[in-house]
Amino acid sequence: MLFFICCENSEKIPIQGAVVSAREEASKIGIEILKKGGNAFDAMVATSFALSVVFPNAGNITGGGFMVYRTSEGDIGSLDYREMAPLSSDEDMYLDNNGKVIDDLSRTGGLAVGVPGSVAGILEVHNKFGSLPLNDLIKPSVELAKKGFLVTEKQAKSLNSKKDEFIKVNGESTFYGKKFMKGDLIRNPNLAKTLNEISKFGNKGFYEGWVAESMVRKINKTGGRISMEDFSSYRPRWRRPIVFDYKDLKIISMGPPSSGGICLAQMMKMIEPYNIGNLKYKSQEALHLMIEAERRSYADRSYFLGDPDFVAIPKYHLISSDYLNERMLNYDPLLATKSSDIPHGDIVVVESDETTHFSILDSFGNAVSVTTTLNGSYGSKVFVDEIGVFMNNEMDDFSSKPGSPNMFGLTGGKANSIKPKKRMLSSMTPTIVEKNGKLFLILGSPGGSTIITSVFQTILNAYEYKMGIQESIDSPRFHHQWVPDSVKFEPNFKNINELKKLKLLGHHFDLQKSKIIGRVDAIMVNEKGTISVGADKRGDDFAQTY
Ligand code: GLY
Repeated sequence: MLFFICCENSEKIPIQGAVVSAREEASKIGIEILKKGGNAFDAMVATSFALSVVFPNAGNITGGGFMVYRTSEGDIGSLDYREMAPLSSDEDMYLDNNGKVIDDLSRTGGLAVGVPGSVAGILEVHNKFGSLPLNDLIKPSVELAKKGFLVTEKQAKSLNSKKDEFIKVNGESTFYGKKFMKGDLIRNPNLAKTLNEISKFGNKGFYEGWVAESMVRKINKTGGRISMEDFSSYRPRWRRPIVFDYKDLKIISMGPPSSGGICLAQMMKMIEPYNIGNLKYKSQEALHLMIEAERRSYADRSYFLGDPDFVAIPKYHLISSDYLNERMLNYDPLLATKSSDIPHGDIVVVESDETTHFSILDSFGNAVSVTTTLNGSYGSKVFVDEIGVFMNNEMDDFSSKPGSPNMFGLTGGKANSIKPKKRMLSSMTPTIVEKNGKLFLILGSPGGSTIITSVFQTILNAYEYKMGIQESIDSPRFHHQWVPDSVKFEPNFKNINELKKLKLLGHHFDLQKSKIIGRVDAIMVNEKGTISVGADKRGDDFAQTY
Protein backbone atom coordinates (compact mmCIF):
# COMPACT_ATOMS: atom_id res chain seq x y z
CA MET A 1 0.00 0.00 0.00
CA LEU A 2 1.35 3.43 -0.89
CA PHE A 3 0.47 6.54 1.08
CA PHE A 4 1.27 10.12 0.24
CA ILE A 5 2.48 12.97 2.39
CA CYS A 6 1.91 16.62 1.57
CA CYS A 7 5.05 18.71 1.45
CA GLU A 8 5.34 22.49 1.67
CA ASN A 9 5.11 23.12 -2.07
CA SER A 10 2.14 20.73 -2.03
CA GLU A 11 3.76 18.22 -4.37
CA LYS A 12 2.96 14.72 -3.32
CA ILE A 13 5.83 12.55 -2.23
CA PRO A 14 4.94 8.90 -1.84
CA ILE A 15 5.86 7.69 1.59
CA GLN A 16 6.06 4.26 3.04
CA GLY A 17 5.49 4.73 6.74
CA ALA A 18 5.52 6.97 9.78
CA VAL A 19 6.52 6.82 13.43
CA VAL A 20 5.56 9.64 15.82
CA SER A 21 6.89 9.44 19.35
CA ALA A 22 8.12 11.50 22.28
CA ARG A 23 11.71 11.58 21.00
CA GLU A 24 13.50 11.97 17.69
CA GLU A 25 15.88 9.08 18.39
CA ALA A 26 13.01 6.68 19.06
CA SER A 27 11.00 7.74 15.99
CA LYS A 28 14.11 7.32 13.84
CA ILE A 29 14.87 3.88 15.22
CA GLY A 30 11.28 2.86 14.49
CA ILE A 31 11.54 4.15 10.92
CA GLU A 32 14.81 2.33 10.29
CA ILE A 33 13.03 -0.90 11.13
CA LEU A 34 10.26 -0.08 8.63
CA LYS A 35 12.89 0.72 6.02
CA LYS A 36 14.46 -2.70 6.55
CA GLY A 37 11.13 -4.25 5.65
CA GLY A 38 9.85 -4.66 9.17
CA ASN A 39 6.18 -4.06 9.84
CA ALA A 40 4.49 -1.66 12.29
CA PHE A 41 4.65 -4.30 15.02
CA ASP A 42 8.40 -4.70 14.57
CA ALA A 43 8.68 -0.92 14.76
CA MET A 44 6.56 -0.96 17.93
CA VAL A 45 9.12 -3.28 19.55
CA ALA A 46 12.10 -1.18 18.45
CA THR A 47 10.47 2.15 19.37
CA SER A 48 9.43 0.89 22.80
CA PHE A 49 12.96 -0.18 23.70
CA ALA A 50 14.41 3.06 22.29
CA LEU A 51 12.08 5.15 24.46
CA SER A 52 13.26 3.22 27.53
CA VAL A 53 16.74 4.60 26.78
CA VAL A 54 16.09 8.22 25.74
CA PHE A 55 12.93 9.04 27.67
CA PRO A 56 13.51 7.65 31.17
CA ASN A 57 10.64 9.58 32.75
CA ALA A 58 8.02 7.51 30.92
CA GLY A 59 9.58 5.30 28.23
CA ASN A 60 10.22 2.03 29.95
CA ILE A 61 10.90 -1.66 30.32
CA THR A 62 9.76 -1.53 33.95
CA GLY A 63 6.23 -0.13 33.59
CA GLY A 64 3.26 -1.19 31.55
CA GLY A 65 1.07 -0.15 28.67
CA PHE A 66 -1.58 -0.86 26.08
CA MET A 67 -1.48 -1.37 22.33
CA VAL A 68 -4.41 -1.01 19.94
CA TYR A 69 -3.87 -2.20 16.37
CA ARG A 70 -5.56 -2.41 13.01
CA THR A 71 -3.93 -4.61 10.41
CA SER A 72 -3.81 -3.90 6.70
CA GLU A 73 -6.73 -6.34 6.36
CA GLY A 74 -8.78 -4.31 8.82
CA ASP A 75 -8.46 -6.81 11.71
CA ILE A 76 -8.42 -5.05 15.04
CA GLY A 77 -7.30 -5.96 18.53
CA SER A 78 -5.64 -4.76 21.68
CA LEU A 79 -2.99 -5.93 24.09
CA ASP A 80 -3.05 -5.21 27.82
CA TYR A 81 0.39 -5.25 29.39
CA ARG A 82 -0.60 -3.21 32.39
CA GLU A 83 1.30 -3.81 35.64
CA MET A 84 -0.19 -6.04 38.34
CA ALA A 85 -0.37 -5.73 42.11
CA PRO A 86 2.21 -7.98 43.79
CA LEU A 87 1.02 -11.16 45.55
CA SER A 88 1.70 -9.57 48.95
CA SER A 89 -0.53 -6.55 48.33
CA ASP A 90 -3.84 -5.85 50.07
CA GLU A 91 -6.53 -3.18 50.22
CA ASP A 92 -5.11 -1.54 53.32
CA MET A 93 -1.46 -1.46 52.35
CA TYR A 94 -1.35 2.35 52.11
CA LEU A 95 -3.41 3.04 55.24
CA ASP A 96 -2.21 3.78 58.77
CA ASN A 97 -3.68 2.22 61.93
CA ASN A 98 -6.47 4.80 61.88
CA GLY A 99 -7.41 3.93 58.32
CA LYS A 100 -5.93 7.12 56.89
CA VAL A 101 -3.97 7.09 53.65
CA ILE A 102 -0.25 7.49 54.37
CA ASP A 103 0.93 10.32 52.22
CA ASP A 104 3.19 9.40 49.29
CA LEU A 105 3.48 5.68 50.15
CA SER A 106 1.80 4.64 46.90
CA ARG A 107 3.86 7.15 44.88
CA THR A 108 7.47 7.01 46.01
CA GLY A 109 9.65 4.08 47.03
CA GLY A 110 9.41 0.32 46.67
CA LEU A 111 5.85 -0.14 47.93
CA ALA A 112 4.58 1.95 45.01
CA VAL A 113 5.91 -0.52 42.41
CA GLY A 114 3.58 -2.77 40.44
CA VAL A 115 4.83 -5.92 38.68
CA PRO A 116 6.08 -4.62 35.31
CA GLY A 117 4.30 -5.73 32.14
CA SER A 118 6.18 -3.87 29.42
CA VAL A 119 8.77 -6.47 28.42
CA ALA A 120 6.21 -9.30 28.36
CA GLY A 121 3.87 -7.08 26.32
CA ILE A 122 6.47 -5.98 23.81
CA LEU A 123 7.71 -9.55 23.33
CA GLU A 124 4.13 -10.79 22.97
CA VAL A 125 3.63 -8.31 20.12
CA HIS A 126 6.80 -9.61 18.51
CA ASN A 127 5.73 -13.25 18.93
CA LYS A 128 2.33 -12.68 17.38
CA PHE A 129 3.04 -10.16 14.64
CA GLY A 130 6.79 -9.57 14.33
CA SER A 131 8.58 -10.35 11.09
CA LEU A 132 12.21 -9.47 11.90
CA PRO A 133 14.43 -11.24 14.46
CA LEU A 134 14.13 -9.81 17.97
CA ASN A 135 17.82 -9.06 18.11
CA ASP A 136 17.52 -6.72 15.09
CA LEU A 137 14.80 -4.78 16.89
CA ILE A 138 16.63 -4.42 20.21
CA LYS A 139 20.14 -3.82 18.87
CA PRO A 140 19.64 -0.15 17.92
CA SER A 141 18.58 0.59 21.50
CA VAL A 142 21.55 -1.33 22.91
CA GLU A 143 23.80 0.84 20.73
CA LEU A 144 21.96 3.99 21.77
CA ALA A 145 22.33 3.15 25.47
CA LYS A 146 26.05 2.47 24.95
CA LYS A 147 26.84 5.48 22.77
CA GLY A 148 24.54 7.80 24.66
CA PHE A 149 21.93 10.40 23.80
CA LEU A 150 21.87 14.17 24.14
CA VAL A 151 19.78 15.74 26.86
CA THR A 152 17.25 18.26 25.52
CA GLU A 153 16.38 21.50 27.27
CA LYS A 154 13.00 20.19 28.40
CA GLN A 155 14.61 16.95 29.56
CA ALA A 156 17.27 18.77 31.59
CA LYS A 157 14.52 20.74 33.31
CA SER A 158 12.56 17.57 34.00
CA LEU A 159 15.57 15.65 35.37
CA ASN A 160 16.75 18.57 37.50
CA SER A 161 13.29 19.06 39.00
CA LYS A 162 13.41 15.51 40.38
CA LYS A 163 17.07 15.36 41.40
CA ASP A 164 16.41 15.68 45.13
CA GLU A 165 13.82 12.92 45.02
CA PHE A 166 16.22 10.62 43.13
CA ILE A 167 18.82 11.19 45.84
CA LYS A 168 16.34 10.78 48.69
CA VAL A 169 15.28 7.34 47.43
CA ASN A 170 18.59 6.07 46.05
CA GLY A 171 21.42 7.97 47.75
CA GLU A 172 23.84 10.71 46.67
CA SER A 173 25.70 8.67 44.05
CA THR A 174 22.62 7.61 42.11
CA PHE A 175 22.88 7.63 38.30
CA TYR A 176 20.55 10.59 37.68
CA GLY A 177 21.36 12.41 40.94
CA LYS A 178 23.19 15.33 39.34
CA LYS A 179 22.42 18.56 37.54
CA PHE A 180 21.90 18.18 33.79
CA MET A 181 22.30 20.75 31.04
CA LYS A 182 21.01 20.78 27.49
CA GLY A 183 23.53 18.91 25.34
CA ASP A 184 24.86 16.63 28.09
CA LEU A 185 25.48 13.09 26.90
CA ILE A 186 23.88 10.26 28.87
CA ARG A 187 25.38 6.81 28.40
CA ASN A 188 23.70 3.94 30.17
CA PRO A 189 25.84 0.77 29.82
CA ASN A 190 23.83 -1.12 32.43
CA LEU A 191 20.64 -0.59 30.47
CA ALA A 192 22.50 -1.77 27.34
CA LYS A 193 23.41 -4.96 29.25
CA THR A 194 19.79 -5.46 30.32
CA LEU A 195 18.49 -5.00 26.79
CA ASN A 196 21.07 -7.51 25.58
CA GLU A 197 19.82 -9.98 28.16
CA ILE A 198 16.25 -9.55 26.88
CA SER A 199 17.48 -9.95 23.32
CA LYS A 200 19.25 -13.22 24.19
CA PHE A 201 16.79 -14.80 26.60
CA GLY A 202 13.44 -13.14 25.87
CA ASN A 203 11.07 -12.97 28.85
CA LYS A 204 13.42 -15.07 30.96
CA GLY A 205 16.07 -12.41 30.47
CA PHE A 206 13.88 -9.94 32.35
CA TYR A 207 11.44 -11.86 34.55
CA GLU A 208 13.99 -14.41 35.85
CA GLY A 209 17.68 -14.44 36.65
CA TRP A 210 19.91 -11.54 37.67
CA VAL A 211 17.76 -8.81 36.09
CA ALA A 212 14.65 -9.79 38.10
CA GLU A 213 16.77 -10.45 41.19
CA SER A 214 18.25 -6.96 41.07
CA MET A 215 14.77 -5.40 40.77
CA VAL A 216 13.36 -7.47 43.64
CA ARG A 217 16.36 -6.58 45.82
CA LYS A 218 16.12 -2.84 45.19
CA ILE A 219 12.31 -2.64 45.43
CA ASN A 220 12.31 -4.45 48.75
CA LYS A 221 15.26 -2.45 50.06
CA THR A 222 13.25 0.72 49.43
CA GLY A 223 10.12 -0.44 51.26
CA GLY A 224 8.43 -2.83 48.81
CA ARG A 225 7.24 -6.42 49.17
CA ILE A 226 7.68 -7.99 45.77
CA SER A 227 8.90 -11.51 44.99
CA MET A 228 10.57 -13.43 42.17
CA GLU A 229 7.26 -15.25 41.77
CA ASP A 230 5.56 -11.92 41.07
CA PHE A 231 7.94 -11.43 38.17
CA SER A 232 7.92 -14.95 36.76
CA SER A 233 4.12 -15.20 36.81
CA TYR A 234 3.38 -11.96 34.91
CA ARG A 235 1.42 -12.43 31.65
CA PRO A 236 0.04 -9.86 29.18
CA ARG A 237 -3.55 -10.28 27.92
CA TRP A 238 -5.05 -9.87 24.47
CA ARG A 239 -8.38 -8.11 24.97
CA ARG A 240 -11.29 -7.12 22.81
CA PRO A 241 -10.96 -3.38 22.17
CA ILE A 242 -13.80 -0.92 22.75
CA VAL A 243 -15.37 -0.23 19.35
CA PHE A 244 -18.07 2.36 18.73
CA ASP A 245 -19.51 4.48 15.95
CA TYR A 246 -19.66 8.24 15.87
CA LYS A 247 -21.43 9.45 12.72
CA ASP A 248 -19.40 7.86 9.90
CA LEU A 249 -16.43 7.11 12.12
CA LYS A 250 -15.63 3.78 13.70
CA ILE A 251 -13.45 4.32 16.75
CA ILE A 252 -11.29 1.54 18.19
CA SER A 253 -9.81 2.17 21.60
CA MET A 254 -8.57 0.44 24.75
CA GLY A 255 -10.98 -1.30 27.08
CA PRO A 256 -10.60 -2.06 30.79
CA PRO A 257 -8.38 -2.10 32.74
CA SER A 258 -8.08 1.19 30.93
CA SER A 259 -10.98 3.57 31.26
CA GLY A 260 -9.81 5.29 28.06
CA GLY A 261 -12.00 3.56 25.48
CA ILE A 262 -15.19 3.55 27.54
CA CYS A 263 -14.88 7.20 28.59
CA LEU A 264 -13.96 8.29 25.06
CA ALA A 265 -17.03 6.43 23.75
CA GLN A 266 -19.23 8.03 26.40
CA MET A 267 -18.03 11.56 25.67
CA MET A 268 -18.35 11.20 21.91
CA LYS A 269 -21.74 9.55 22.04
CA MET A 270 -23.10 12.04 24.56
CA ILE A 271 -22.34 14.94 22.21
CA GLU A 272 -23.23 13.11 18.96
CA PRO A 273 -26.90 14.19 18.90
CA TYR A 274 -25.94 17.88 19.23
CA ASN A 275 -24.02 18.22 15.94
CA ILE A 276 -21.08 20.02 17.47
CA GLY A 277 -19.64 20.77 14.02
CA ASN A 278 -22.40 23.36 13.62
CA LEU A 279 -21.33 25.14 16.78
CA LYS A 280 -18.51 27.64 16.35
CA TYR A 281 -15.10 26.22 17.24
CA LYS A 282 -14.29 26.88 20.93
CA SER A 283 -17.47 28.90 21.34
CA GLN A 284 -19.12 28.89 24.73
CA GLU A 285 -21.82 26.58 23.28
CA ALA A 286 -19.30 23.99 22.06
CA LEU A 287 -17.14 24.19 25.18
CA HIS A 288 -20.13 23.84 27.49
CA LEU A 289 -21.39 20.76 25.66
CA MET A 290 -18.01 19.05 25.78
CA ILE A 291 -17.41 19.94 29.43
CA GLU A 292 -20.78 18.53 30.42
CA ALA A 293 -20.05 15.27 28.56
CA GLU A 294 -16.63 15.04 30.23
CA ARG A 295 -18.16 15.66 33.66
CA ARG A 296 -20.70 12.86 33.27
CA SER A 297 -18.22 10.37 31.90
CA TYR A 298 -15.67 10.83 34.68
CA ALA A 299 -18.42 10.31 37.23
CA ASP A 300 -19.05 6.84 35.75
CA ARG A 301 -15.36 6.08 35.54
CA SER A 302 -14.89 6.19 39.29
CA TYR A 303 -17.72 3.80 40.02
CA PHE A 304 -17.80 1.20 37.34
CA LEU A 305 -14.31 0.66 36.06
CA GLY A 306 -11.48 -1.60 37.17
CA ASP A 307 -9.70 -4.78 36.11
CA PRO A 308 -12.23 -6.87 34.11
CA ASP A 309 -10.61 -10.06 35.43
CA PHE A 310 -11.80 -9.06 38.91
CA VAL A 311 -14.93 -6.94 38.48
CA ALA A 312 -17.97 -7.21 36.23
CA ILE A 313 -18.13 -4.07 34.12
CA PRO A 314 -21.39 -3.27 32.28
CA LYS A 315 -19.30 -1.98 29.37
CA TYR A 316 -21.84 -2.35 26.55
CA HIS A 317 -24.48 -0.63 28.68
CA LEU A 318 -22.09 2.18 29.61
CA ILE A 319 -21.43 3.02 25.96
CA SER A 320 -24.95 2.44 24.63
CA SER A 321 -26.80 5.39 23.10
CA ASP A 322 -29.83 4.72 25.31
CA TYR A 323 -27.81 5.01 28.48
CA LEU A 324 -25.84 8.03 27.29
CA ASN A 325 -28.93 9.90 26.08
CA GLU A 326 -30.37 9.28 29.52
CA ARG A 327 -27.17 10.65 31.09
CA MET A 328 -27.70 13.85 29.10
CA LEU A 329 -31.36 14.28 30.05
CA ASN A 330 -30.40 16.86 32.66
CA TYR A 331 -28.02 18.65 30.27
CA ASP A 332 -29.01 22.31 30.06
CA PRO A 333 -27.37 24.33 27.26
CA LEU A 334 -27.69 27.43 29.44
CA LEU A 335 -26.54 26.15 32.80
CA ALA A 336 -23.55 24.21 34.15
CA THR A 337 -24.61 21.05 35.98
CA LYS A 338 -23.13 20.81 39.46
CA SER A 339 -20.91 17.76 39.81
CA SER A 340 -22.62 17.11 43.14
CA ASP A 341 -25.87 16.65 41.19
CA ILE A 342 -24.33 13.96 39.01
CA PRO A 343 -24.67 10.62 40.74
CA HIS A 344 -21.98 7.94 40.93
CA GLY A 345 -18.88 7.86 42.97
CA ASP A 346 -17.00 10.16 45.22
CA ILE A 347 -13.46 9.33 44.32
CA VAL A 348 -11.22 12.09 43.08
CA VAL A 349 -9.25 11.11 39.99
CA VAL A 350 -5.69 11.99 40.91
CA GLU A 351 -3.35 10.77 38.25
CA SER A 352 0.09 11.68 37.26
CA ASP A 353 0.49 13.30 33.88
CA GLU A 354 3.63 11.46 32.85
CA THR A 355 3.17 8.73 30.32
CA THR A 356 4.15 8.44 26.66
CA HIS A 357 2.35 7.63 23.46
CA PHE A 358 3.52 6.67 19.96
CA SER A 359 1.73 6.02 16.68
CA ILE A 360 3.03 3.91 13.79
CA LEU A 361 1.87 3.24 10.24
CA ASP A 362 3.77 0.90 7.91
CA SER A 363 3.84 0.57 4.15
CA PHE A 364 1.55 -2.46 4.29
CA GLY A 365 -1.16 -0.39 5.98
CA ASN A 366 -0.79 -1.81 9.50
CA ALA A 367 -1.56 0.75 12.20
CA VAL A 368 -0.29 0.59 15.76
CA SER A 369 -1.22 2.88 18.64
CA VAL A 370 0.71 2.43 21.91
CA THR A 371 0.58 4.24 25.24
CA THR A 372 3.01 3.17 27.94
CA THR A 373 3.98 4.52 31.34
CA LEU A 374 5.87 4.37 34.61
CA ASN A 375 2.92 6.41 35.97
CA GLY A 376 4.65 9.34 37.67
CA SER A 377 7.59 11.07 36.09
CA TYR A 378 10.45 8.56 36.63
CA GLY A 379 7.88 6.32 38.36
CA SER A 380 8.60 5.51 42.00
CA LYS A 381 12.06 7.15 41.71
CA VAL A 382 13.47 3.74 42.70
CA PHE A 383 16.47 3.36 40.39
CA VAL A 384 17.90 -0.12 39.93
CA ASP A 385 21.59 0.48 39.25
CA GLU A 386 22.42 -2.95 37.86
CA ILE A 387 19.85 -2.62 35.09
CA GLY A 388 19.97 1.15 34.58
CA VAL A 389 16.28 2.06 34.95
CA PHE A 390 13.63 3.49 37.26
CA MET A 391 10.78 1.31 38.53
CA ASN A 392 7.14 2.34 38.02
CA ASN A 393 4.81 3.68 40.74
CA GLU A 394 1.70 2.29 39.11
CA MET A 395 0.20 1.09 42.42
CA ASP A 396 -0.91 4.70 42.85
CA ASP A 397 -3.49 4.16 40.10
CA PHE A 398 -5.48 1.86 42.41
CA SER A 399 -7.88 3.50 44.84
CA SER A 400 -5.91 3.50 48.07
CA LYS A 401 -9.12 3.87 50.05
CA PRO A 402 -12.40 2.96 48.39
CA GLY A 403 -15.33 5.25 49.19
CA SER A 404 -18.92 4.66 50.24
CA PRO A 405 -21.76 2.91 48.39
CA ASN A 406 -23.52 4.75 45.57
CA MET A 407 -27.17 4.78 44.60
CA PHE A 408 -26.74 1.46 42.79
CA GLY A 409 -25.17 -0.19 45.80
CA LEU A 410 -21.74 -0.08 44.19
CA THR A 411 -19.00 1.23 46.38
CA GLY A 412 -17.05 4.16 45.01
CA GLY A 413 -13.66 3.05 43.82
CA LYS A 414 -14.30 -0.50 44.98
CA ALA A 415 -13.99 -1.70 41.39
CA ASN A 416 -10.46 -0.35 41.49
CA SER A 417 -9.47 -1.52 44.95
CA ILE A 418 -6.16 -3.32 45.47
CA LYS A 419 -5.99 -7.10 45.22
CA PRO A 420 -3.04 -9.41 44.53
CA LYS A 421 -2.50 -9.88 40.76
CA LYS A 422 -5.10 -7.25 39.92
CA ARG A 423 -4.40 -4.53 37.33
CA MET A 424 -4.93 -0.92 38.32
CA LEU A 425 -7.34 1.30 36.39
CA SER A 426 -5.74 3.46 33.71
CA SER A 427 -6.74 6.40 31.55
CA MET A 428 -4.45 5.48 28.67
CA THR A 429 -6.34 5.80 25.40
CA PRO A 430 -4.38 4.45 22.44
CA THR A 431 -6.90 4.85 19.64
CA ILE A 432 -7.40 4.15 15.95
CA VAL A 433 -10.20 5.78 13.95
CA GLU A 434 -11.71 4.59 10.69
CA LYS A 435 -13.76 6.88 8.45
CA ASN A 436 -16.14 5.19 6.06
CA GLY A 437 -14.32 1.93 6.67
CA LYS A 438 -10.84 3.29 5.89
CA LEU A 439 -8.00 4.14 8.25
CA PHE A 440 -8.31 7.81 9.29
CA LEU A 441 -6.40 8.46 12.53
CA ILE A 442 -3.88 6.79 14.82
CA LEU A 443 -3.50 8.74 18.05
CA GLY A 444 -3.07 8.86 21.80
CA SER A 445 -1.52 10.96 24.53
CA PRO A 446 0.12 11.00 27.94
CA GLY A 447 -1.51 13.10 30.64
CA GLY A 448 -3.09 10.87 33.31
CA SER A 449 -6.77 11.67 33.58
CA THR A 450 -6.40 14.33 30.87
CA ILE A 451 -5.43 11.69 28.30
CA ILE A 452 -9.03 10.91 27.45
CA THR A 453 -10.07 14.52 26.99
CA SER A 454 -6.95 15.20 24.88
CA VAL A 455 -7.85 12.34 22.54
CA PHE A 456 -11.54 13.36 22.52
CA GLN A 457 -10.73 16.95 21.53
CA THR A 458 -8.13 15.99 18.92
CA ILE A 459 -10.60 13.69 17.15
CA LEU A 460 -13.26 16.43 17.17
CA ASN A 461 -10.78 19.00 15.83
CA ALA A 462 -9.83 16.69 12.98
CA TYR A 463 -13.27 15.41 12.14
CA GLU A 464 -15.82 18.04 13.12
CA TYR A 465 -13.67 21.12 12.55
CA LYS A 466 -11.76 19.69 9.56
CA MET A 467 -8.35 20.71 10.87
CA GLY A 468 -5.15 19.12 9.68
CA ILE A 469 -3.54 16.77 12.17
CA GLN A 470 -0.84 19.20 13.39
CA GLU A 471 -3.42 21.95 13.93
CA SER A 472 -5.72 19.49 15.69
CA ILE A 473 -2.86 18.73 18.08
CA ASP A 474 -1.62 22.32 18.51
CA SER A 475 -5.08 23.63 19.35
CA PRO A 476 -5.35 24.55 23.07
CA ARG A 477 -7.09 21.99 25.25
CA PHE A 478 -9.31 22.01 28.30
CA HIS A 479 -10.33 19.37 30.79
CA HIS A 480 -13.12 18.60 33.23
CA GLN A 481 -13.11 15.40 35.26
CA TRP A 482 -16.26 15.75 37.38
CA VAL A 483 -14.34 16.10 40.66
CA PRO A 484 -13.03 18.67 41.39
CA ASP A 485 -15.87 20.64 39.82
CA SER A 486 -13.67 22.94 37.78
CA VAL A 487 -12.40 23.23 34.23
CA LYS A 488 -8.68 23.40 33.44
CA PHE A 489 -7.65 25.41 30.38
CA GLU A 490 -4.23 25.44 28.77
CA PRO A 491 -2.27 28.70 29.17
CA ASN A 492 -2.67 29.64 25.51
CA PHE A 493 -6.46 29.32 25.56
CA LYS A 494 -7.31 32.72 24.14
CA ASN A 495 -11.10 32.76 23.81
CA ILE A 496 -11.51 35.08 26.79
CA ASN A 497 -14.98 36.31 25.80
CA GLU A 498 -16.25 32.76 25.46
CA LEU A 499 -14.69 31.89 28.82
CA LYS A 500 -16.48 34.81 30.45
CA LYS A 501 -19.75 33.45 29.06
CA LEU A 502 -18.90 30.00 30.45
CA LYS A 503 -18.50 31.55 33.92
CA LEU A 504 -21.97 33.03 33.57
CA LEU A 505 -23.33 29.51 32.95
CA GLY A 506 -21.85 28.49 36.30
CA HIS A 507 -18.56 26.84 35.31
CA HIS A 508 -15.64 27.23 37.70
CA PHE A 509 -12.05 27.76 36.60
CA ASP A 510 -8.95 29.65 37.56
CA LEU A 511 -6.83 30.67 34.58
CA GLN A 512 -3.87 31.31 36.90
CA LYS A 513 -3.72 27.55 37.41
CA SER A 514 -3.44 26.79 33.69
CA LYS A 515 -1.00 24.14 32.59
CA ILE A 516 -0.20 22.05 29.58
CA ILE A 517 -2.69 19.25 28.91
CA GLY A 518 -1.58 16.08 27.08
CA ARG A 519 0.96 15.56 24.31
CA VAL A 520 -0.76 13.94 21.35
CA ASP A 521 1.29 12.09 18.71
CA ALA A 522 -0.81 11.16 15.72
CA ILE A 523 -1.01 10.08 12.10
CA MET A 524 -3.84 11.01 9.75
CA VAL A 525 -4.78 9.46 6.42
CA ASN A 526 -7.29 11.32 4.28
CA GLU A 527 -9.77 9.90 1.77
CA LYS A 528 -7.18 10.07 -1.03
CA GLY A 529 -4.63 8.14 0.99
CA THR A 530 -2.57 11.23 1.78
CA ILE A 531 -0.84 10.76 5.08
CA SER A 532 0.07 13.55 7.46
CA VAL A 533 1.78 13.42 10.81
CA GLY A 534 1.45 15.48 13.96
CA ALA A 535 3.99 15.57 16.78
CA ASP A 536 3.02 17.55 19.85
CA LYS A 537 5.12 20.69 20.27
CA ARG A 538 4.35 20.72 23.97
CA GLY A 539 7.12 18.14 24.31
CA ASP A 540 10.20 17.08 22.32
CA ASP A 541 7.93 14.87 20.24
CA PHE A 542 9.04 14.01 16.74
CA ALA A 543 7.44 12.63 13.61
CA GLN A 544 9.63 10.66 11.22
CA THR A 545 8.42 9.45 7.86
CA TYR A 546 10.07 7.75 4.91
N1 GLY B 1 -0.67 5.97 34.99
C1 GLY B 1 -1.44 6.69 34.07
C2 GLY B 1 -2.53 5.87 33.49
O1 GLY B 1 -2.42 4.67 33.45
O2 GLY B 1 -3.51 6.39 33.06
